[in-house]
Amino acid sequence: MKYQIPKGTFDILPYGADEPWKLSALWQYVEQIVRQTAIDYGYREIRTPMYERSELFDRGVGETSDIVMKEMFTFEDKGGRLISLRPEGTSSVMRAFVENNLAQLGPVHKFFYIAPMFRYERPQSGRYRQHHQFGVEALGVAGPAQDAEVIDLLCETYRRLGLQNLTVELNSVGDLESRQSFRDALQAFLRPYFNELSEDSQSRFEKNPLRILDSKDPKDRDILKQAPSILHSLSEKALEHFNELKRLLDSCRIPYRVNDRIVRGLDYYNKTVFEVTANVLGAQNALGGGGRYDGLIATFGGPDLPGVGFGTGIERILQTMIAQSVPLPKEPAPLVYWLPLGDEARRTCFTLATECRHRKIFAEIDLQAKKIQTGLQNATRLNAQICVIVGSEELAKGTAQIKHLESRRQEEIPLDQLIDYFVAINQKQAERI
Ligand code: HAM
Repeated sequence: MKYQIPKGTFDILPYGADEPWKLSALWQYVEQIVRQTAIDYGYREIRTPMYERSELFDRGVGETSDIVMKEMFTFEDKGGRLISLRPEGTSSVMRAFVENNLAQLGPVHKFFYIAPMFRYERPQSGRYRQHHQFGVEALGVAGPAQDAEVIDLLCETYRRLGLQNLTVELNSVGDLESRQSFRDALQAFLRPYFNELSEDSQSRFEKNPLRILDSKDPKDRDILKQAPSILHSLSEKALEHFNELKRLLDSCRIPYRVNDRIVRGLDYYNKTVFEVTANVLGAQNALGGGGRYDGLIATFGGPDLPGVGFGTGIERILQTMIAQSVPLPKEPAPLVYWLPLGDEARRTCFTLATECRHRKIFAEIDLQAKKIQTGLQNATRLNAQICVIVGSEELAKGTAQIKHLESRRQEEIPLDQLIDYFVAINQKQAERI
């Protein structure tokens, strides 16, 4: 029997990946940068289980959302409980926040996570059944400065990663009052066209008409051209929040474009919503998105604290970096490649290689070397700087042949001086960085 990876998933490999964004060194690099950026903005890491009781997402993401209706990996556990692999991070973070009574520990809480998410979607380029998100959630501040901080953090993360030509699209879906009045206006506008709408949009007409706004169906989009704008239905408070957010973004020189068609696919949003798109991503062009979700914590039985956050897909970040030819970090390479020939030499080199490693020198050893030529090829393939060759002749003399692989320079050094020699090189190179 031949085993195959499940549809819509992929392996992240150290080498040999069929596409460069699946190389683990790149994932480590991106994870390191997003983590540091979040820390620099005062966010702390939170880790929650990969699965939750399904009702959490029904409540949080919303029963009428596509995610809950069509895309959750849901199963019954042996105890008869309905469990879902998490499709997104916000609901889980809110659950953890409430369950652990973190609200008692201060007025403001800022979390980040880097974690896999699961959505049973039709796989295509940029869309997977297991994807990974870097996300943040800022709880406790109702004012628009918190929204601006979150948006700036997202943009700064992309900037530090070297991404270019991104567009921040900004909208407000208002508070409950604004949405109620917009819902009526939108339904009134769409009613005469009902029979011309796509099947999906028809089914959303009663339950969730706002979602019709981001329909991808060309006929729907044509009809929607004349649709009213949610920005005209904003309550005075929601409008003031939106205007102040725009002022703050302007003053920080964060470019954005107001797009009143952005409604997002999760039901918990109110007031601010935003999406960042990359022109190189094709149909799945959303690099990241988020918004405000005041009231969500209270829905989960916690205190009535406001919140705002974002999630950004790591796959799409890497694909954008590669499409934009962003300079990528070089993989770390061994300083020393030990190449012992024969059992006795292997014993000696193994001890010395171990000593190197204990001194924090990146050292590799060829434990089954037979021929110098193959050993040298392996060392070159790994981009090692120096190859140490020890055969019976060298052992008899108590020395090693040192080959500098780039310059091809060769020298003979006594075995008992080797460690000091490598420690000195390692130190010099560390100082240069
Ligand atoms: P979302 O827009 O559903 O938001 O997902 C965030 C990002 O995850 C997307 O912009 C995209 O880059 C990536 N993504 C989503 N689905 C897939 C997929 N199937 N394959 C590859 N990448 C994908 C949320 O999940 C919210 N929890 C964000 C948030 C946090 N809002 C407030 N706080």
